Amino acid sequence: MPRAHALLLENLHATASEVLATYDVETRRLSTALSEDELVSALQDFPGDGPVFVGIRSKTHVTPRVFDAVPRLVAIGAFCIGTDQIALDVARRSGVAVFNAPFSSTRSVAELVIAEVVMLSRQVFARSKAAHEGHWDKSATGAHEVRGKTLGIIGYGHIGSQASILAEALGMQVQFYDIDKKLPLGNANVVDSLEALLGSSDFVSLHVPDTELTRGMIGREQLCAMRRGAYLLNLSRGKVVDIPALRDALVSGHLAGAAVDVYPREPANTKEVFESELRGLDNVILTPHIGGSTQEAQANIGREVAHALGHYLDHGSTLGCVTLPSLDLPVPTSVRRGPASRIVNVHQNVPGVLSAINRVVAETNVNIVGQALATVEDVGLLFIDVPLAADDPRAEKLREGISALDTSVRTRLLWL
Ligand code: NAI
Repeated sequence: MPRAHALLLENLHATASEVLATYDVETRRLSTALSEDELVSALQDFPGDGPVFVGIRSKTHVTPRVFDAVPRLVAIGAFCIGTDQIALDVARRSGVAVFNAPFSSTRSVAELVIAEVVMLSRQVFARSKAAHEGHWDKSATGAHEVRGKTLGIIGYGHIGSQASILAEALGMQVQFYDIDKKLPLGNANVVDSLEALLGSSDFVSLHVPDTELTRGMIGREQLCAMRRGAYLLNLSRGKVVDIPALRDALVSGHLAGAAVDVYPREPANTKEVFESELRGLDNVILTPHIGGSTQEAQANIGREVAHALGHYLDHGSTLGCVTLPSLDLPVPTSVRRGPASRIVNVHQNVPGVLSAINRVVAETNVNIVGQALATVEDVGLLFIDVPLAADDPRAEKLREGISALDTSVRTRLLWL
């Protein structure tokens, strides 16, 4: 019998099953999403009583009923960035770890940014459209090399910093503005204020998350502060830019062009018509949120999420987890020399919970060789390492004792 079973839906990349197999997780793959009823019965259908995972993308909804109906469900892999399709509060209260893949498409987005900087600068889309319509416009008017031009990056995180490196390879000057202190890569310069960056860049590229601070951060005033003839790129989140204001800046000629991949309202499916005030403008590259849509990103997502699930199975590690507190504890060398088990306990974070757990440990009369705790709001995650083989009856007694506490949500026994 494998250590765990995983149901992988929505045609996940093959890397997901390959990586899970290395953790002794047997996978069942389906190319489609499942309804609530179908999901429940597919998850209940696995043999044995070991842990069960489900891997989804955006189309499968994991509703509160799924958690109630499948207590063996210990973790969910969202093989994408968004996790809105999962009842996260219920997952957290049920002690179910949810992992996603926020960084696997970093390089894909950065490459598209660089491609679009060149395309905008050479007016490729307007010239291509004209050529498709039979017009032969080969003049150099308004077309420029990007070498020596300044790229201003707003948000110097994973994507912004990758774009910075690639832009320098093309001979661009790079400057960035970030609310956090960030180490500049290559020859990039830090700029102290958004206004200073806007007024001194030939291309402004946005790479910030969607937060209260970033929503609407590029409005009329900021567009006015940009250089005349500059270009704006938004491949971050749709609500960061005021689209009607951007349209006005483009139509008036203040901005020479823009590339936009994300929108305040995006169609929910391929049948829905895409509406935007930017449609029909020649100097705007519109793409349907494809910044991270590459085969390579999908393969990386498969690996990233499958490894996160595997580490959770192996050691209880929740690094990058969306629902449970983030916790990792290396296995101490002394433990590696002999048999050792880890109790992974998700509990309600209420007064007295730790002393109740420690009482159970004391009653079992075993020494603790490693312990770590992390809490977020009403949920706590505790690791207790003990020098017992997992098939030692005292280890299971310890797990049972902790699991029986009213405050315990989920308690697993792992063999280190
Ligand atoms: P990240 O978290 O690594 O970096 C974001 C950076 O923005 C951080 O350095 C942060 O300090 C900075 N920041 C936050 N608020 C700011 C503010 N008010 N002003 C200035 N800087 C601020 O994120 P990552 O991975 O680089 O992603 C950036 C954006 O790209 C995200 O919004 C993400 O959703 C989006 N994205 C878009 C994709 C697409 O298909 N178009 C694919 C992947 C990500």
